[in-house]
Amino acid sequence: MEVVIVPDAAAGGELIAEAMARLLRGTPGALLGVATGSTPLPVYEALTAKVRAGEVDVSRARIAQLDEYVGLPADHPESYRSVLRREVLEPLGIGMDAFLGPDGTAGDIRAACAAYDAALAAAGGVDLQLLGIGTDGHIGFNEPCSSLASRTRIKTLTEQTRVDNARFFDGDIDQVPHHVITQGIGTILEARHLVLLATGEGKADAVASTVEGPVAAVCPASALQLHPHATVVVDEAAASKL
Ligand code: GLP
Repeated sequence: MEVVIVPDAAAGGELIAEAMARLLRGTPGALLGVATGSTPLPVYEALTAKVRAGEVDVSRARIAQLDEYVGLPADHPESYRSVLRREVLEPLGIGMDAFLGPDGTAGDIRAACAAYDAALAAAGGVDLQLLGIGTDGHIGFNEPCSSLASRTRIKTLTEQTRVDNARFFDGDIDQVPHHVITQGIGTILEARHLVLLATGEGKADAVASTVEGPVAAVCPASALQLHPHATVVVDEAAASKL
């Protein structure tokens, strides 16, 4: 695992956007795995700036979703499909035909999860997966004690994660769904390059467990220690407990 400490979130965004641009210059049809949350926004802004400056061509790039709420209509503004369309695909000028995601509205959620794993494999696998991290060390929506070998499946959110995400639902925890579909930790580990970005003091404990703790299901992000090509990008605040 490589740990890169950057001065601030913008520098982290620039560093990761450049890694994505390098990948796309060599492999124009690369499959980029993207994450939601506030942390990755500087990455998407920096990559969009590179596209607009003509530094990288994303016309053949493909985008894969990490996780999704169960039961929110796909066009709900806070479904992760909507969030990614708004924050990633539209700014980059990538159409939804190049987008892969699980169906959080499916009648048969187990089948939808299996179908998504199969779709990722059929697409050749994720080339670079961008990850944020929850304050409890979760990646995607793999909450603490998720199996490190897990595949895409339905999960129940912890109270802490619902509290953390209520800010996207007018601060009203009652609007935050209880269930989600998430790529499993085993699924995530199949991406060829994992890049985790963490910024701010609130992530310092989770980052310390991820990087210096034992590989343990209690900190799902610690599974990155098992991956042959994992990069953890942290600002000074998130690195403060290393
Ligand atoms: C959610 C997402 C994760 C994300 C996490 C942290 O739980 N499912 O993928 O990493 O939030 O979000 P933020 O970056 O806003 O702190």
